[in-house]
Amino acid sequence: MNDARQHDDANERGSAQNHGAAVGLTADKITIRGGIPLVGRIEVKGAKNLVTKAMVAALLGETPSVLKDVPNISDVRIVRGLLEVHGVKVTEGAEPGDLILDPVDVESAHFAAIDAHAGSSRIPILFCGPLLHRLGEAFIPDLGGCRIGDRPIDFHLEVLRKFGAVVEKQPNGIRMSAPNGLKGAKLELPYPSVGATEQVLLTAVRADGITELKGAAIEPEIMDLINILQKMGAIITVDTDRVIRIEGVDRLMGYNHRALFDRNEAASWAAAALATDGDIFVGGARQPEMITFLNVFRKVGGAFDICDDGIRFYHPGGDLKPVIIETDVHPGFMTDWQQPLVIALTKAHGTSIVHETVYEQRFGFVDALVEMGATIQIHKECLGGHPCRFGQRNFNHSAVITGPTKLHGADIVVPDLRGGFSHLIAALSAEGTSTVSNVGIISRGYENFIGKLRLLGADFDLEG
Ligand code: EPU
Repeated sequence: MNDARQHDDANERGSAQNHGAAVGLTADKITIRGGIPLVGRIEVKGAKNLVTKAMVAALLGETPSVLKDVPNISDVRIVRGLLEVHGVKVTEGAEPGDLILDPVDVESAHFAAIDAHAGSSRIPILFCGPLLHRLGEAFIPDLGGCRIGDRPIDFHLEVLRKFGAVVEKQPNGIRMSAPNGLKGAKLELPYPSVGATEQVLLTAVRADGITELKGAAIEPEIMDLINILQKMGAIITVDTDRVIRIEGVDRLMGYNHRALFDRNEAASWAAAALATDGDIFVGGARQPEMITFLNVFRKVGGAFDICDDGIRFYHPGGDLKPVIIETDVHPGFMTDWQQPLVIALTKAHGTSIVHETVYEQRFGFVDALVEMGATIQIHKECLGGHPCRFGQRNFNHSAVITGPTKLHGADIVVPDLRGGFSHLIAALSAEGTSTVSNVGIISRGYENFIGKLRLLGADFDLEG
């Protein structure tokens, strides 16, 4: 291991602890005695990948916004901190999970206050449009987020320039200004990026004139962001073929909105139920945003009951079956779902293939699974039927999982958010005892996962 990599790993451990500490998790290591089916009911709140953007949208309003069902996760803490250094008053509302965001006194932040958030999340890049509208300038610190590929921001910078922003790269981040204001533009994304689509929405709603975005992402979290912006006074049309049109308006007001549930968290607990032979009712989960996941869950051999207040996911008995999955943008099978589901696939009778087409390096988590007894090979070729943009680029982006294998306990280190949850599932379903370290990272996206594991009957101890 070279020095730079060692340094990175040390930072990653430090930041994992910070994530956990931000939401009251004092331990960074869990010792899990596996083999116990997870059974019971847990609740999911608003989606991490909507709530954090909805909080940024509040910057655009002239009056306070109320966001409901906000989970207590460290990514929310980070965005809250960044809003506060820009003068937004953030307070808890009457109900648990209510957040009131008052942007009336938005102001430029000091460099040091912004820099304190460097490397913590990818959300700061979405502050650009709203801050340019409010203040005429923005400084964005170096970004963080999971290490699941290069995660460039070229699409973001390109669209901002087309709106008229002047972008200046600096040693610790990016400085932006809009000396002539921001103007609507004709835009086309080379790939339906979730973040870049949100960047366009958050910038175009107050830009002068009409924006047309081709090649937009249309994830349910983006549709819910559009719901919020419409409540604020925006005029946005979603046409067929990934075209979004936005007519800029002069003023936006605050919103009152209950966030879309977290379908990634719901799918993660569903995967945990299947891999542990368990039975988990996920309160707050809804069918429409999970149709693609539910189809695959059923094909693998899982069962579910759709109810008014949530979805029950369970292992109905019998052998699990292998599947071929290609991750994709919505309405395809989400990349965030593959990592937790891979654990169930190690128990399926036959060979499964997971072709990851969204991120070029999202199989870092499988080394630990192999150590625990799984048979998984990673390939550079596009396996599964459809060539993707990574096929010619030498990326390890296809996994072949041969089962059934019995996982046994091991000492493993969480590499990233979804990979981390997948490691928890592996340890919970394995024979014997596992130690899972760096679990603070999981607090970025899973509210009170320790309390939920307790509720579901998992057998574990926490260590500092
Ligand atoms: N991309 C570029 N240039 C850009 C932006 C994206 O090449 O300027 C590429 C990325 O490298 C990637 C692909 O486009 O290969 C898709 O990235 P996208 O922009 O869609 O992802 P994102 O906005 O950074 C969000 C979620 C991810 C989720 C993806 C896909 C948030 C904060 N993150 O990321 O969530 O996997 O969309 O749905 O909303 C997670 O929750 O664990 C997570 C990683």
